[in-house]
Amino acid sequence: MDPSVIEQDEQWARWQRKHRQAAPDEPLELDPFVEEVFHQRKPASSNRALDLACGRGRHALALAKLGWSVEAWDFSSEGLARLKQRAAEQDLEIKCRLVDLRQADLSAFWAQFHFVVQVNYLNRDLLASAHKLLLPEGLFLFQGFNEDWPEERPGPRFRLRAGELESGLPGLRTLKILERDGRSFFLGQRSDA
Ligand SMILES: C[S@@+](CC[C@H](N)C(=O)[O-])C[C@H]1O[C@@H](n2cnc3c(N)ncnc32)[C@H](O)[C@@H]1O
Repeated sequence: MDPSVIEQDEQWARWQRKHRQAAPDEPLELDPFVEEVFHQRKPASSNRALDLACGRGRHALALAKLGWSVEAWDFSSEGLARLKQRAAEQDLEIKCRLVDLRQADLSAFWAQFHFVVQVNYLNRDLLASAHKLLLPEGLFLFQGFNEDWPEERPGPRFRLRAGELESGLPGLRTLKILERDGRSFFLGQRSDA
């Protein structure tokens, strides 16, 4: 079997286990940078937000509470199950999709969202095409680990190089870039639509 397929399966199994083992009442905190952006960008009614690789949905839940109409995508059914449970408890409506972001054809979703969020999931192909998911002037927010991150995980393959986002991302006008404590942040606006 192709080693990359085995590796993909291992990653999926690890995430399934991790999401299943998480405490159902874990606190769902956001990074202060992300929190600030969320509070500065209140949605007009029914504006659509997308949480890519949402995990157990801390960003999707926060966005839904702020009034966004939210979709949340991940390849882990366990993560999405936790998210659905939390959303139901808080009477929030979030559309969940089981999507493998390494191989899904996302073209059916081009130009659908006002706000796309991608946190702690580094997939450079997705970073290069994320702008296509946005409506004109839509916002893209990325947060990820970089090589200054002091802990062992995620491994080097899932970390940005220092300054990697400085040249910007395709199709996005850079609004803000920040690197702090081993994390990199990027906020951009669709510029090519
Ligand atoms: C570190 S977690 C981040 C979760 C969430 N964004 C957050 O910040 O709380 C990474 C997430 O990426 C998801 N993931 C990893 N590979 C994926 C893939 N190929 N397609 C979709 N989701 C993936 C995992 O299931 C996990 O939920």
